[in-house]
Amino acid sequence: MKIICLIALLAFFLTGCYYDKAELTYPANISATCDTTAVKYSVDILSIMSANCYSCHSGTAVSGGGIILDTYTGLKAFANNGQLLNSVLQNGNVPAMPLGGSILSSCDQNKIRAWINNGTPNN
Ligand code: HEC
Repeated sequence: MKIICLIALLAFFLTGCYYDKAELTYPANISATCDTTAVKYSVDILSIMSANCYSCHSGTAVSGGGIILDTYTGLKAFANNGQLLNSVLQNGNVPAMPLGGSILSSCDQNKIRAWINNGTPNN
């Protein structure tokens, strides 16, 4: 009986330790996977935009004030006039986006900034 209790106790502590470690390493993994050196329009930017912005700013949506951001040309115009970055940084210069949603992660913000700094390539 004693040995069974010991094993149960040991299992409890071992799994406890496992989860502690997972928690500690998780934030480090997130920053390690935020790669802004090779941002692509077709991969990174499109996925950020479709997940957070297309509900209002795609061709058929009427809730985006007529601002169409689901084409390369449409998005590039707002990238070049500074409103795209200002809106997702929520710095007060233009209405904060995504409207009514939570602010983009700093990784997503940095990817958008990197894409703009690279000259908004259609890659
Ligand atoms: C719930 C709907 C909604 C979502 C989601 C949304 N927008 Fe908007 N957006 C609007 C509306 C409405 C406007 C019209 C401008 C206003 O609010 O004055 C706008 C305006 C804009 C503008 C022009 C800024 C200006 O001067 O008015 C930009 C750029 C923009 N949105 C970018 C984005 C981006 C990028 C996302 C995703 C991260 C996003 N929006 C998500 C509704 C939305």
